[in-house]
Amino acid sequence: PESGGPSAPGTDFDPVPPNTEDRVVVPEGYEQRIVIRWGDPVVPGAPEFDFHHQTPEAQQRQFGYNNDFAGLIPLDGAGRRNLLVVNHEYTTETHMFPGYDAENPTEQQVRIAWAAHGQSVLLVMRDLARGGLTAEPSRYNRRITLNTEFEVRGPAAGSDHLKTSADPSGTRVLGTQNNCAGGVTPWGTMLSGEENVHQYFAHADRVTDPRTKRRLDRYGFNAGASTRKWERFDERWDLGREPNEANRFGWIVEIDPHDPDSTPVKHTALGRFKHEGATIEVAEDGRVVAYMGDDERFDYMYKFVSHGTMKPGGSAHARRHNMGLLDEGTLYVARFSGDSPAAEIDGSGALPADGEFDGSGEWLPLAGGAKSYVPGFTAEEVYVFTRLAADAVGATKMDRPEDVQPNPVNGRVYCALTNNSNRGTPGHAPVDETNPRIGNKHGHVLEMDDDATGTRFSWTLLLVCGDPEDSNTYFGGFDKNRVSPISCPDNLAFDRHGNLWISTDGNELGSHDGLFVVPVDGPQRGHVKQFLTVPNGAETCGPIVTDNLVTVCVQHPGEDAEDAQHPTSHWPDGGDSRPRPSLTAVWRDEGGRAGEIGRR
Ligand code: FEO
Ligand code: CA
Ligand code: CA
Ligand code: CA
Repeated sequence: PESGGPSAPGTDFDPVPPNTEDRVVVPEGYEQRIVIRWGDPVVPGAPEFDFHHQTPEAQQRQFGYNNDFAGLIPLDGAGRRNLLVVNHEYTTETHMFPGYDAENPTEQQVRIAWAAHGQSVLLVMRDLARGGLTAEPSRYNRRITLNTEFEVRGPAAGSDHLKTSADPSGTRVLGTQNNCAGGVTPWGTMLSGEENVHQYFAHADRVTDPRTKRRLDRYGFNAGASTRKWERFDERWDLGREPNEANRFGWIVEIDPHDPDSTPVKHTALGRFKHEGATIEVAEDGRVVAYMGDDERFDYMYKFVSHGTMKPGGSAHARRHNMGLLDEGTLYVARFSGDSPAAEIDGSGALPADGEFDGSGEWLPLAGGAKSYVPGFTAEEVYVFTRLAADAVGATKMDRPEDVQPNPVNGRVYCALTNNSNRGTPGHAPVDETNPRIGNKHGHVLEMDDDATGTRFSWTLLLVCGDPEDSNTYFGGFDKNRVSPISCPDNLAFDRHGNLWISTDGNELGSHDGLFVVPVDGPQRGHVKQFLTVPNGAETCGPIVTDNLVTVCVQHPGEDAEDAQHPTSHWPDGGDSRPRPSLTAVWRDEGGRAGEIGRR
């Protein structure tokens, strides 16, 4: 983009140009430092990482693999001591283990992978003189893995659909997996979405009951052996033996990082689908609203409105009460309408005559407590097979909804729709004003004006992503000569000015993924600027944006290799090392101290 010209508050830096460097590239005048890497000690006493001598016992006390969402929870008013909570979405065995044989993984490798999933909780100090954010040993430090017991709560806890031979109560599940994005709640806990959970299970073809089969199909569970072959070491991953184990994943989980002995929770009231994450808005009357996306082509956006109201304050008592808010309320799915004639939405991405992709919409109730609003479904079925219930009410099929997040400054809600190669192609749903491009390669960002606890909203597309030189892109009406190209938006964050920060997954423009900022109000609305790029094959995840520090999770570096045994990246350790997913902190260097991000 052309440099120079005015910038909105908090966005005054020289944008990083598109590039393909095997490192994190930050703007001129900014510093960076690794906070923590895969394998670094988390729990006090954990051994140092030893790539050639990995064990499950070590991994379950070390930082897990493929960091995705990260959240910062301050422990003091100054924000010096904080809890850092991080998701470990999935494992990449070919990179983790030298000489890995995908057809015959060893039990040791499988057990390491179970320990590399889940979350890390650790104490971090903000000390910008010592390099951003430093991890400290503490009593809070904790790993949650596929062996950690979770309590199932809410209206579907104890449902017959959740009972297995290992858990006849249907209320206790070992572990969480594929934790993608998430959110920090106003009461100081972490929410996390169980996303592509189908990939861990084998033998959906051995299920004979047609209804069970149909439900497994709608959630993408596969026939035959699983990629990781876990079913050879624990039969809960074999759907032919334990079909209900599938229903024990695909939830929003909540972790109380203040209490390292707490049992994490799976909240059934928030429905079961490929949850990207959940973010909370507190309504004026104190009820809480959770916004959620189901990240699959042609799947839906949801919200949950609690029945009870939030107790303020940071006490353990308030926290326990507030965690209970997500167990009772109403679950809704979104239906969108455009305000332009359908004939003007031709699939090219050209704006309709009124100059905007925009319109109105409504939240369709699915279930509230024990009451179902969907004909043919019990409330329990709505919660456990939410996708099928949403199909039945005619929700709007979206281009892969990722983060859905309220902006704390202007109150509007933003959703990243990452892409959809099948949109409008033969045999698939046609374009509509909300998802207006055929084969949507670069995704778009939706902005909603939502009455938090109500059922009506208005919406507009803030960004239709891609190369600004292409006529099928839109940058909030801003001058396209001055914006950074952006492709495949995924995670969202807001700074104190209300600027929207967007990290990307799967850049289709020939550059690496990165982190961008875009003002959403005032004359600079739509002025997208790239803040950083990540190394070869990596995705940018879980941005944390504070006044003087930005962090990103660099996920799956090197994963674009044609030969999986030879990753394309050696980041961050360099030389001929295997890549290690890591969290990186970035700040503006003001002569040895950190200045405000985006202000010179
Ligand atoms: Fe794991 Fe939807 O990205
Ligand atoms: Ca319109
Ligand atoms: Ca994601
Ligand atoms: Ca993604």
